[in-house]
Amino acid sequence: MERFVIQGGGRLVGEVPISGAKNAAVAILTATVLAEKPCIIENVPNIRDVSIILKILTDIGAVVQTIDRSTVMIDTKHVQKAEVPYEMARLYRASYYFLGVLLGRFGRASVAMPGGCDLGVRPIDLHIKAFEALGAKVSLEQGGMVDVKADNLIGTHIYMDGYSVGATINAILAAVKANGLTVIENAGKEPHIVDLANFLNSMGADIRGAGTDVIKIRGVSHLGGATYSIIPDQIETGTFMVAAAATRGNVLIKNVIPKHLECITAKLRKIGAVVEEFDDSIKVVRTGGLLKDNIKTMPHPGFPTDMQAQITVLLALAQGTSIITESIFDNRFRYVEHLRHMGAHIQVDGNIAIVEGGHPLKGAPVIATDLRAGAALIIAGLCAQGTTYIEDIYHIERGYEDMESKLCGLGADIKKIYTPDPLGMSQAL
Ligand code: EPZ
Repeated sequence: MERFVIQGGGRLVGEVPISGAKNAAVAILTATVLAEKPCIIENVPNIRDVSIILKILTDIGAVVQTIDRSTVMIDTKHVQKAEVPYEMARLYRASYYFLGVLLGRFGRASVAMPGGCDLGVRPIDLHIKAFEALGAKVSLEQGGMVDVKADNLIGTHIYMDGYSVGATINAILAAVKANGLTVIENAGKEPHIVDLANFLNSMGADIRGAGTDVIKIRGVSHLGGATYSIIPDQIETGTFMVAAAATRGNVLIKNVIPKHLECITAKLRKIGAVVEEFDDSIKVVRTGGLLKDNIKTMPHPGFPTDMQAQITVLLALAQGTSIITESIFDNRFRYVEHLRHMGAHIQVDGNIAIVEGGHPLKGAPVIATDLRAGAALIIAGLCAQGTTYIEDIYHIERGYEDMESKLCGLGADIKKIYTPDPLGMSQAL
């Protein structure tokens, strides 16, 4: 089993480059299934979720060539298979995007649904409603397979009666080659939705309004190839911004889009960090004390739910009591018990966490319960007195490229060590 070992107490100082956005990459790489010519995708993050998608694309018949560490060529001309089995689909959450692209290209798809995960139940009812609105028949087969079929996908009006990034993306993927106009209302507005729309438009799609509540998609019969560069990762950037503030650091974070960070920047300034924005970089310096603040996670451009765990660590170090409200997921405070092992004073009541700041953190053995919780525990370990051991770091490596070396480059004392399972059982069990 691999784990991180962190000696806390140091400051993060220096420069760190940000990788391509995980949540844009999982949509854009999957969307290449709709292309009739090869696509070159640049700034692809070198993370586990991406490796899984490239494996699935190969399994269904695509040609995937690595051009360099962050560039891939994908040719899906010969894709025939419209099925993603459970043993592949279960490996990451967004495998359901294969439903949208295979339906959009072949008029049929069969993809296993991963169950709920560490953030609570994660239904796909809004995805299914979007497919049905476009004329597809959706059935839940035994073994957890979701089957979608449509003789014809017809453009339509889709009102999302719940805010969903994934359902918005799947609706776009299914509608982009449908007959006629599709209007999606109450659409997701996240930067990675805009990035997907820009990619599809570069292939010849006709999508307008991405980034607003109303997205209009005029179906086209052909989509060509494209060369496209994925946007920088807003949440990886936010994670390093919080880590710099938490460790009284001085960090220049490069390859970013400051506009995507406005809410995080505003909160960090309020809590006590100095944040300087440049064209494609952002500098975070913290020398003084930290002030309490209240946080409510919201859809973009509000404070991202994927930054909730990280900012909670920062507020645990601040003077005073802060209130964190998680309004997107129904179970996104599982990391709090591990922060409490490290000396944080946090009470959770439903979707609210009350953080009584000012109690110093002490190193302890903790477990990453999901990707962002793991990142938050790393930040806590960097600020704690003594040594922190973080288990289940595969969660972190799903979405953060080279986290350990990027932190070491900023002066952090973090190592990845392998400890054999005392019972000799494989992690896969
Ligand atoms: C995307 O997940 C991101 N993942 C998540 O990032 C992110 O936290 C989330 O959006 C919210 O911003 C990817 O983009 C791959 P949702 P997604 O559909 O699309 C409920 C990370 O750490 N819902 O916007 O699955 C759902 O249960 C990950 O990078 C329904 O009820 O999120 C949740 O409570 C974690 N029915 C809320 O809506 C549906 O059909 C928002 O979910 C779909 C969702």
